[in-house]
Amino acid sequence: MSKIIVSPSILSADFANLERDIKAVEIAGADWIHVDVMDGHFVPNITIGVPVVISLRQVTDLPLDVHLMIDNPEKYIKAFAEAGADILTFHYEAVEKSKIKQVINLIKSFGIKAGMSIKPKTSPIEILEFLPDLDLLLVMTVEPGFGGQIFIQDCAKKIPTIKQSTNENLIIQVDGGINDQTAKICTNLGANSLVAGNYIYKASDYKQAIDSLR
Ligand code: DX5
Ligand code: ZN
Repeated sequence: MSKIIVSPSILSADFANLERDIKAVEIAGADWIHVDVMDGHFVPNITIGVPVVISLRQVTDLPLDVHLMIDNPEKYIKAFAEAGADILTFHYEAVEKSKIKQVINLIKSFGIKAGMSIKPKTSPIEILEFLPDLDLLLVMTVEPGFGGQIFIQDCAKKIPTIKQSTNENLIIQVDGGINDQTAKICTNLGANSLVAGNYIYKASDYKQAIDSLR
């Protein structure tokens, strides 16, 4: 069985102490650091942008897993790639279908992993044609925009369709309401990367929380 990649979401960390909170999950066994970028348009919340990614790049060697919940992601891919993102995930719903391949290729042109994410109401059937080009497919298990929401079990049911339709190199990631119980549901269905914000950062023991997800 391939290793489960755990990517703590710093949305649930203390923004005044990001270095401290990243080091803490690094020591606790995190594989990646998940960075949620929101623009107040694609989602009804605003978080952080390129300057923060530049600063995070100086304080961790872990891969920066940047989740773009923004309109017109193609305009910002170069800036995030140059800022030090290792995985850049845009939303399928934020790009015209005819331009999706261009966006994927643009991300890859910077030598980093290209990810695409689907919201809860998007059918996996719609995006199967893009799977061969992607390094990562992120299945949102809540409506994007906020941490601490309840896992939507129906979303996880998309995972087998995606898994059966692609090669084993595709990373299937889930994000939203992930805890030790919901992680098990997702990994049993074929997910191999777990994003978790509240479950990790609200835990008293980060290592125990991360270990329990695997
Ligand atoms: C939500 C973000 C998530 C969020 C997850 O839109 O994409 O990454 O931080 O938070 P939890 O794990 O608390 O649901
Ligand atoms: Zn996210």
